[in-house]
Amino acid sequence: MVGSAWESDVAILGGCGHVGLPLGLALADSGLHVSLYDTNHTSTRLVMSGAMPHREPNADEVLHRVLAAGRLQACSQPASIGVAEHVIVVIGTPVDKHLNPDPQAVVGAVENVAEHLTDGQLLVLRSTVYPGVTRLVERLVDRLGKDVDVAFCPERIAEGRAMEELYSLPQIVAARTDEAYERAAWLFSQLTKSIVRVTPEEAELAKLFTNSYRYIKFAAANQLYMMANDFGVDYERVRAAVTEDYPRAADLPGPGFAAGPCLLKDTMQLAAFNNNNFALGLASMQVNEGLPLYLVARMAANYDLGSMTVGILGMAFKGESDDVRDSLAYKLKRVLEIQAKSVLSTDPYVTTDPALRPLERVLADSDVLVIGAPHQLYADLDIKRPIVDIWNLRGGGVLI
Ligand SMILES: NC(=O)c1ccc[n+]([C@@H]2O[C@H](COP(=O)([O-])OP(=O)(O)OC[C@H]3O[C@@H](n4cnc5c(N)ncnc54)[C@H](O)[C@@H]3O)[C@@H](O)[C@H]2O)c1
Repeated sequence: MVGSAWESDVAILGGCGHVGLPLGLALADSGLHVSLYDTNHTSTRLVMSGAMPHREPNADEVLHRVLAAGRLQACSQPASIGVAEHVIVVIGTPVDKHLNPDPQAVVGAVENVAEHLTDGQLLVLRSTVYPGVTRLVERLVDRLGKDVDVAFCPERIAEGRAMEELYSLPQIVAARTDEAYERAAWLFSQLTKSIVRVTPEEAELAKLFTNSYRYIKFAAANQLYMMANDFGVDYERVRAAVTEDYPRAADLPGPGFAAGPCLLKDTMQLAAFNNNNFALGLASMQVNEGLPLYLVARMAANYDLGSMTVGILGMAFKGESDDVRDSLAYKLKRVLEIQAKSVLSTDPYVTTDPALRPLERVLADSDVLVIGAPHQLYADLDIKRPIVDIWNLRGGGVLI
């Protein structure tokens, strides 16, 4: 696939992250030559040794396959950017501790590799960005005097489903010129034939609306859950009644921690963009971030926590994941530590937390358990202790 002028088809800036790596694997598996540029040396080394730096189902076999075929490499040399026909930028775009986005994050990452940008390249922004960032990058490219096409093609996969959703989800492709659009559409047509063309500004909002809407939906469910629970009614029984053969309400979610590195921060990006005039988004933060506090208050009402050891099963931000970024299980733990005699935690996938204990120890040493992340393996465990399970993972209802 590599054309004569280029050493690789695609370079991915941020290529060993949760989004960049699955994308790189999928593109390499489609036959393209892909190079992953990442400032995290540990991750690039792991990838080159055939190991995934994070858990992503079905990615390991693809990694082995494309490495063996010589179609993937990972490195920390920015020069690798300059020899690729297509450059995809997918660095993290977190909000700061005061929930402010950084509209310059992606611009700065591109500026850092500016000397390596080469005339004739296509530059694809794939991070979730503050509205207007595509325009800022276009201006930067102009200022640099580079003849580089720019497109914005936001990533919409969910972690844990990347290797399936990269092929099954429609791809939003946005560009100011037909040429940039055609080039970006060709690139993603290696993965999916379903391409949605919009303007860059429409695409920027489309991505933020996607995540904010999901965050608001979870907040609605969590608020209704707390309401039912305070009334002594099992929300799951109400939800079953609401949704049975009633398609208009079929998407009413169950309760759970709406956490992780995307939903809250993208809702906050949108709020900041709209001068903090986003009542639904901000109220959703209050509800979703309040759920661990509510749970602890309910547990304190039901148990003599001060004399008890509480065990938390699952610390990742969601089920079957090893990702602890912005996990509300950690907020739950912090609040429990104030109230309980002691708190133990366990997770079969998380490898970065030295405080974690083996599952057997936590089951044996805890007086009461709470599911922090709904890993499937907790569903059928024979547990003798009382267990708080707002996910209804074990099918016993969610009333506490
Ligand atoms: N995680 C998800 O499920 C998901 C889904 C859709 C969209 N997104 C969006 O995708 C973007 C990336 O998210 P992520 O979860 O993959 O983040 P991540 O932190 O897992 O990955 C980012 C990678 O970029 C590297 N990096 C950072 N700065 C760099 C630089 N200047 N040069 C080279 N490498 C650099 C980091 O080392 C890291 O490996 C964010 O905008 C996020 O909102 C994430």
